[in-house]
Amino acid sequence: MKTLTTKELRELYLRFFKERGHAIISSSPLVPENDPTALFTMAGMHPLVPYLLGAKHPAGSRLADVQKCVRTGDIDEVGDASHCTFFEMLGNWSLGDYFKQDAIAWSWEFLTGAEWLGIDKDKLYFTCFAGEGELPRDTEAHDRWVEMGADPSHIFYLGREHNWWGPAGQTGPCGPDTEMFIDTGKEPCGEGCFPGCHCGKYLEIWNDVFMQYNKTADGKYEPLAQKNVDTGMGLERTVATLQGVGSVYDTDAFTGILNRIAELSGKHYGDSPEVTKAFRIIADHMRTATFMLGDQRGVKPSNVDQGYILRRIIRRAIRYAMQLGMPEMSLSRVAETVIETYGDIYPEIREHRDLIVTELDVEEKKFQRTLVQGTKEFERIKNHTENGLIDGVTAFHLFDTFGFPIDFTVELAKENGLTVDVEGYRAAFAEHQAKSKAGAEQKFKGGLADHSEITTRLHSATHLLQAGLRKVLNDENVCQKGSNITPERLRFDFSFPRKVTPEELREVEKFVNDAIKADVPITCEEMPYEEAKARGAIGLFTYGDIVKVYTMGEYSCEMCGGPHASRTGELGVFKIKKEEASSSGVRRIKAVLE
Ligand code: ALA
Repeated sequence: MKTLTTKELRELYLRFFKERGHAIISSSPLVPENDPTALFTMAGMHPLVPYLLGAKHPAGSRLADVQKCVRTGDIDEVGDASHCTFFEMLGNWSLGDYFKQDAIAWSWEFLTGAEWLGIDKDKLYFTCFAGEGELPRDTEAHDRWVEMGADPSHIFYLGREHNWWGPAGQTGPCGPDTEMFIDTGKEPCGEGCFPGCHCGKYLEIWNDVFMQYNKTADGKYEPLAQKNVDTGMGLERTVATLQGVGSVYDTDAFTGILNRIAELSGKHYGDSPEVTKAFRIIADHMRTATFMLGDQRGVKPSNVDQGYILRRIIRRAIRYAMQLGMPEMSLSRVAETVIETYGDIYPEIREHRDLIVTELDVEEKKFQRTLVQGTKEFERIKNHTENGLIDGVTAFHLFDTFGFPIDFTVELAKENGLTVDVEGYRAAFAEHQAKSKAGAEQKFKGGLADHSEITTRLHSATHLLQAGLRKVLNDENVCQKGSNITPERLRFDFSFPRKVTPEELREVEKFVNDAIKADVPITCEEMPYEEAKARGAIGLFTYGDIVKVYTMGEYSCEMCGGPHASRTGELGVFKIKKEEASSSGVRRIKAVLE
């Protein structure tokens, strides 16, 4: 097996396919041009969808490229050995040209050929689609690997969750695939260990997809008029394997970036598992942020769509930069190294250098304002805890004065080996609410006559729903975009960049029903808008200078014109009936009270 640098692997791959009649095309932007169903380009095939569906590509029917990609679904895994939110994908395509026979033969040749990667064939493992329902088992792929010289005992048939690819958005081209793995030589994790198992014994390096179906909006698989090949080789993972290092972060692609972080922080990569993780997260997130900001279709931090993802990534990096003790405005310095590392291959980031640096600094300043003070306070508190426990009143103080959401305090505490008395926090919160309500009008009656009782109750449920969404989705950027109530149901539109999972919906329902069971009073106070904001009341509209703030115990605090029920116990049983996209970056929930 050859040891190659990142640059060498890019060049070798493209040369191999060029010699086999492929036109080399340049990477498309990270923000898909014609696909409203996905926020970012997440595979090399993504920009090619129109051509996989039959449109004629100007460069011909055999293409190869290196495509910049972003996948943020596994963001919490970043920091381990292999996950990145940004990565480069090497790919070759047949648009109605060659199919399985040639695709597999070339994959074999590139992997094993002495002139190419020269991987020992005994180390290679393969998986093929086992078939499901009307979709047949892919014996052709299996037999072709054997013909090429693969050990039949190294070929596994797996189901759809492993060996089916696409579509990239909700609809589009898809099909069975065959994946290629390298055996690292590690002990199997157990008897059932197989290529595709995540224990780390087998590393997936390449995937050949045989795109012969189109998934339609009603979930059907129609055969495509033209049979295509789409392949994807993760550049970072393959280089890590070829360089014999245990992690993508230990490849040459990251050396400069990690060194920069070391310089700025005065820490060493590898000092401790926590330091290593922080280095990796900052390196990954700054690669992603640099490529997003510097994209041909540049993204700016915001509260919706791509900008929202970018903002979360930058803020997460800031937290880890602070943890390493990096000075303020260090992230743009890290981004400069990303630009140096990748500017030759992706000139757009070099062209947008000033914009990248400025945007990062502006975003950092914004976030630092609250965070720096809060974190200092946290450090002070940390040194005064008894038995490693942050009590509820203190957690409430962090929330009330420094805007630290309780989940954030819990995460920080965990990183510091501390725990938080969350129940105590809730009690402190409730007590605070009760005190601030003393003397205030207990119930707002205006407008009630115009509303039937049921719509009033649905309106109160809408407040709880919004609070539940913010809690479960762990995101203060979940914002009301629209609300419509009929006597039958409530409808609530809110900003959020992806589908809410069934599990999350169940948690939201539980939050609302717990609030109902707690039967807390729903109270209203009038106050200046600024005061309401300072108290943490949510709400987009100001209704003039003086706003009404509705509070439901510890569950919800929201500015609103009313009217509402008197107690949460009056609402009944809350059920979510539907969650769907409303428009780009906006989700819609329909729910009822039973
Ligand atoms: N589109 C395929 C993948 O991303 C090759 O794995």
